[in-house]
Amino acid sequence: MKYQVITKDGRAKRARMETVHGTVETPVFMNVGTVGAIKGAVSTDDLREIGTQVELSNTYHLHVRTGDKLIKEFGGLHRFMNWDRPILTDSGGFQVFSLAGLRKIKEEGVYFNSHIDGHKIFMGPEESMRIQSNLGSTIAMAFDECPPSHASDDYIRHSVERTTRWLARCKTEMERLNSLPDTVNREQLLFGINQGGVVEEIRMEHARTIREMDLDGYAVGGLAVGESHEEMYHILDVTVPCLPEDKPVYLMGVGTPANILEAVDRGVDFFDCVYPSRNGRHGHVYTNQGKLNLFNQKYELDSRPIEEGCGCPACRSYSRAYIRHLLKAKEMLGMRLCTLHNLYFYNTMMKEIRDAIEEHRYAEYKAAKLAGMEGSSR
Ligand code: GUN
Ligand code: ZN
Repeated sequence: MKYQVITKDGRAKRARMETVHGTVETPVFMNVGTVGAIKGAVSTDDLREIGTQVELSNTYHLHVRTGDKLIKEFGGLHRFMNWDRPILTDSGGFQVFSLAGLRKIKEEGVYFNSHIDGHKIFMGPEESMRIQSNLGSTIAMAFDECPPSHASDDYIRHSVERTTRWLARCKTEMERLNSLPDTVNREQLLFGINQGGVVEEIRMEHARTIREMDLDGYAVGGLAVGESHEEMYHILDVTVPCLPEDKPVYLMGVGTPANILEAVDRGVDFFDCVYPSRNGRHGHVYTNQGKLNLFNQKYELDSRPIEEGCGCPACRSYSRAYIRHLLKAKEMLGMRLCTLHNLYFYNTMMKEIRDAIEEHRYAEYKAAKLAGMEGSSR
């Protein structure tokens, strides 16, 4: 892996990461395909067409349904999905905490019940690394605990210390797996995850601890879980400077276009979020003038595309009125077109962000983009 900062504009970074599955230009928005599919009937051919650089899937979901062993036997997730560009897999930690029922956290890992059929599962750092190794993703995420937003400082401190011990176990296991002859991707990368809730000191101390562990990249996790936007920006202000400058920084699960614009300005280069696809499935579409709800009656005879000048497959061919009709008729095509437009909007915004940083006009770009979208919160 080679990661190179091309230029900076203030704290905003324009970088390039080279992987065995090709180059990633950052800042980048990774398109979320939890189960190895983007919800809304979006294919990997579609992803190529709308400019997706990295696809993101989830360890937990692929483990409980279909199974990572079968996917390894097939030749790995890349071959399974027919996607030859980078894939990042989340470790399962966060999904276990947000989805699975009845869990028990121990030093060795987490005991929980499958959200599909309730059967008992154990996942710890080694299990998560083995599953991600079977999938053969480009980037594996460390197995972490994302403490609940209401947790006490004391709980957070103990949780973060355990996450650090888990990270060391992840690294050891990943190195072992990458040295085995029948591993799908023997150059699998490992990103560590910073935690610490909104407690400044814990965040900074944890960031300094994990930067010593020489990982391929660093994520900031445990944000956008109920704290205010200002608190999130403040945590980024104090945490990102404690992470290495010459490694990629990934803000997990974030966020709105405004959140991304602010986080880029604080040195973040990787993002992912379900908003564009989830909003698309509900007929909420992003434009440079804010979000539209296509269910609104005012669009029933609107012959314009979702956004004038947009190059996405929805805007190239269809009117707001027709897409509104599809949504109201519950036709799959309605959700699909809205999802494609929203992902294209995010991918295009990232391209604009990269260009603005390169041309050292990020502050002006950000201000203009935010002013245009005023009123669109999520
Ligand atoms: N996705 C969003 N937040 C998190 C987090 O804190 N940890 C993990 N593993 N995934 C996330
Ligand atoms: Zn469009």
